[in-house]
Amino acid sequence: MDKIKIALVFGTRPEAIKMCPLVKKLKQNSKFEVVTVVTAQHRQMLDSVLELFDIIPDYDLNLMKENQNLWNLTSDILLETKKVFDEIKPDLVLVHGDTTTAGITALSAFYSRIKIGHIEAGLRTFDKDYPFPEEINRVIVDSVSDLMFCPTDKAVKNIENSGIKKGIYKTGNTVIDALLYVVENKDADLDFIKLNPDLKTILLTSHRRENFGKPLENICYAIKELVEKNKDIQVVYPLHLNPNVRNTVKPILDDIDRVKLIEPLDYVPFCNLMKKSHIILTDSGGVQEEAPTLGVPVLVLRDETERPEAIAYGGVKLVGANKEKIVSTVQELLDRKEEYEKMSKAVNPYGDGKACCYIEKIIEEYFNLQ
Ligand code: UD1
Ligand code: UDP
Repeated sequence: MDKIKIALVFGTRPEAIKMCPLVKKLKQNSKFEVVTVVTAQHRQMLDSVLELFDIIPDYDLNLMKENQNLWNLTSDILLETKKVFDEIKPDLVLVHGDTTTAGITALSAFYSRIKIGHIEAGLRTFDKDYPFPEEINRVIVDSVSDLMFCPTDKAVKNIENSGIKKGIYKTGNTVIDALLYVVENKDADLDFIKLNPDLKTILLTSHRRENFGKPLENICYAIKELVEKNKDIQVVYPLHLNPNVRNTVKPILDDIDRVKLIEPLDYVPFCNLMKKSHIILTDSGGVQEEAPTLGVPVLVLRDETERPEAIAYGGVKLVGANKEKIVSTVQELLDRKEEYEKMSKAVNPYGDGKACCYIEKIIEEYFNLQ
């Protein structure tokens, strides 16, 4: 019997973290021929993940441009993925999540009449402007997909409620597979950050388009006020490589006592830093999903989230980008032990670390390979 040819296409850091465990899993299955295609929407931040998982892409489209925009990225992805699909003629294309790589690759595969599977399907805020443009990317991908691998029951419901009837599965999120692989098999030295072991560490990440400008400034001023008020905390902010982030943050937080602005961390040291942190402030999707497994409370720097499950379970709270709200919520967690413990003991609703196995089985069933 001919092998089923599966092309996994991804381009940014979070997609790579969540797709690499699946690439490895599917490659072990002799019924599949796996082709790895990277758009390289991100370059350095993608490469560090590929290296960690020992994956050399079969096709590297190398599309990232300095300070790129949605128009050039969209047209490049559409045209370049078409060429790859014409050449390799996959039976199934797998994309992940809600980036431009995911949305446009799915559209490209749809135009080429190829079956599509969406990893991390069904997430919604139901607000097309938040997050922009990711909410619309998710809708596009789910609309053209044949298989939708949803992390939670809520994600399944979101798709069912949109009228789609077939191909919807709950698998958990592959990010937990990646996180457990790292926590169980890898370790990284954080000495180079020169953390003071006597201080509580607050980890901050922020890179969302909707926080560019004033909201990100508010976040930075909140951090400044918190370190001035609390002599027992230090803040570490691995800065995303997007110039829109760096140009706002550096003028406010460079040279502030007990605030460390550092380069983006590779995934292993980042997991290690999350584990060591007392509180995490973030607008990242992946970090919201990972931190509850490590028992670290997360305050989300957004007004809405497509990941409400961890809020319901108690490990995550929404604080937006309002300076006073950020300061008061962090202060409450620093001052009130019982509130802190409630958040840090919450269960992680995003999976059991076996999402890749479930996805593999579903694909086998879909192609009648069992
Ligand atoms: C993208 C995704 C966002 C995701 C985020 C993860 C879209 C529209 N946005 O946003 O959903 O949450 O990735 O991090 O798909 N850069 C580098 N090197 C890198 C990565 C980025 O220099 O390795 C710089 C480049 O100047 C690049 C810029 O960052 O042009 C922006 O990258 P882009 O992928 O367009 O946007 P992100 O904000 O990273
Ligand atoms: N991450 C990392 N190094 C960092 C910051 C984040 O490896 O310096 C990881 C994090 O653990 C998570 C993923 O990157 O798995 C999230 O990526 P990002 O926040 O860029 O994107 P999002 O999840 O918001 O789309």
